[in-house]
Amino acid sequence: MKLIIGNWKLNPESLSDAVKLASKVKRESPYKVVLCPPTVFLTSIDYPNRGAQDCFWNEKGAFTGQVSPSSLAKLGIKYVILGHSERRNLGETDQQINAKAYAALKYKITPVICVGHGTTVDLDDLEVVDIIKAQLDVAIQGLSPKKIIVAYEPVWALSSGDPYATKKVASPDHAERIALFIKRKYGNVPVIYGGSVNAANAKEFMSQHNIDGCLIGGASLKPAEFNKIIS
Ligand code: PGA
Repeated sequence: MKLIIGNWKLNPESLSDAVKLASKVKRESPYKVVLCPPTVFLTSIDYPNRGAQDCFWNEKGAFTGQVSPSSLAKLGIKYVILGHSERRNLGETDQQINAKAYAALKYKITPVICVGHGTTVDLDDLEVVDIIKAQLDVAIQGLSPKKIIVAYEPVWALSSGDPYATKKVASPDHAERIALFIKRKYGNVPVIYGGSVNAANAKEFMSQHNIDGCLIGGASLKPAEFNKIIS
């Protein structure tokens, strides 16, 4: 079953808005739908599948501000987004992402490991593949491809509102080719796509043979639009 993950990032600001938002998201879908609210709202929203936006590589100890994978597991959390470009921008490394993924798997949480190239739209497929390979060689080293999900997110396409800024890069065709590369190289790992997916373009990405779902930011905060996508 293909997967749709709503990444709320640091939204909304209040608990009541978070509860309201989750209550408006449809439960019926041909896809597995996972909502990833900010950590402070994880236990308050009512939705069948919930995911975290990060976790730490140790389960407990002197690590101020970190989120424990074992605590997440005890709350029934089944997915965790790791290595999002917004965290990589703050200094997160592929080694750290790898350690976090190991920790998540230890507690039966599926890591959704994000990779993507930088801020330019001018790279061709081969250059993109080089960058992704450098990230994945470290980030998923030693992990079973059956137990993880890779999210391909061209960084420039995130939150742009326009994934077709140049059709050359984040077209569904391009995403499909990159997904195929990742599967061939890393043992048929599930690959989802993220980057300004919305109600108008989701179907094209979702219908690609090698794309196993979408990671959706902005559109997951608009219930009417998100419900169209998950329908
Ligand atoms: P976007 O975000 O859908 O708003 O581009 C996706 C993401 O950052 O995961």
